[in-house]
Amino acid sequence: MQLPEQPKAGAGRESGPWLLFLSSVEVRFGTVLSNPSRIFHMDVPDPILKSGSLIVRRVEQSDIRLLTRWLSTNEVLAFYGGRDKPYDAGRISEEFFQRDGIIRCIVEWEGVPIGYIQFYRCEPKENLDYGFATTESVWGMDQFIGETGYWNKGIGSRLVREMAEYLLSRGAAHVVTDPETWNTRAIRAYQKAGFLKVKLLPRHEWHEGEMRDSWLMEYKRT
Ligand SMILES: CC(C)(COP(=O)(O)OP(=O)(O)OC[C@H]1O[C@@H](n2cnc3c(N)ncnc32)[C@H](O)[C@@H]1OP(=O)(O)O)[C@@H](O)C(=O)NCCC(=O)NCCS
Repeated sequence: MQLPEQPKAGAGRESGPWLLFLSSVEVRFGTVLSNPSRIFHMDVPDPILKSGSLIVRRVEQSDIRLLTRWLSTNEVLAFYGGRDKPYDAGRISEEFFQRDGIIRCIVEWEGVPIGYIQFYRCEPKENLDYGFATTESVWGMDQFIGETGYWNKGIGSRLVREMAEYLLSRGAAHVVTDPETWNTRAIRAYQKAGFLKVKLLPRHEWHEGEMRDSWLMEYKRT
């Protein structure tokens, strides 16, 4: 589920805080989804999460420069999006401010913007691919730390754990993420946070010229 861009389309029954129905063309790192409809989302405050040194807040226009820098850096692109697809400011402006049901956020650590996280309700077809019932409220997350000096300090695992708890507290039945199988650092970080590998997703994601396998990982409270 990479990509800052529109993965999931939604349909089905909604309850609780999940609302609103939108349409958009679905394009995600090589994946073009045929059903463009999408359930848009939940009533989220901003900042969405504030926990000690960690803040997750909605992306703003003033973040375009930062996102462009992160997503044009090979070190980051090697793990998120691909070095063959660097972003420029135009593409960031086009893709990061759509009303498509994806909640796009900047991650701040001790007041410094260091990364990005997006979350969204999975579409019914995706629920099925993942082994859930179509009507279940399954939420996906994609994330990266753009400031590479902040890698391997425990921030990523804390981020995904806190976001997963947040989504569960807002009514999600399942919270998932889907790192490519070779991304062992991401997998380790998610496991530390409480995510378990639940399903191998063969040829799941386009990355640097080929379809790559991913692990579906689900957050499980201990
Ligand atoms: C993935 C990412 C969000 C994880 O955040 P993080 O803050 O770096 O992760 P953490 O520090 O919480 O945990 C990393 C763990 O992986 C370990 N690790 C580092 N490199 C590793 C490697 N090549 N293979 C396996 N484990 C590795 C670290 O030692 C640490 O484990 P430990 O605490 O047991 O020692 C961050 O590294 C990142 O943004 N990477 C680039 C983009 C990316 O991969 N995004 C995810 C796409 S699914």
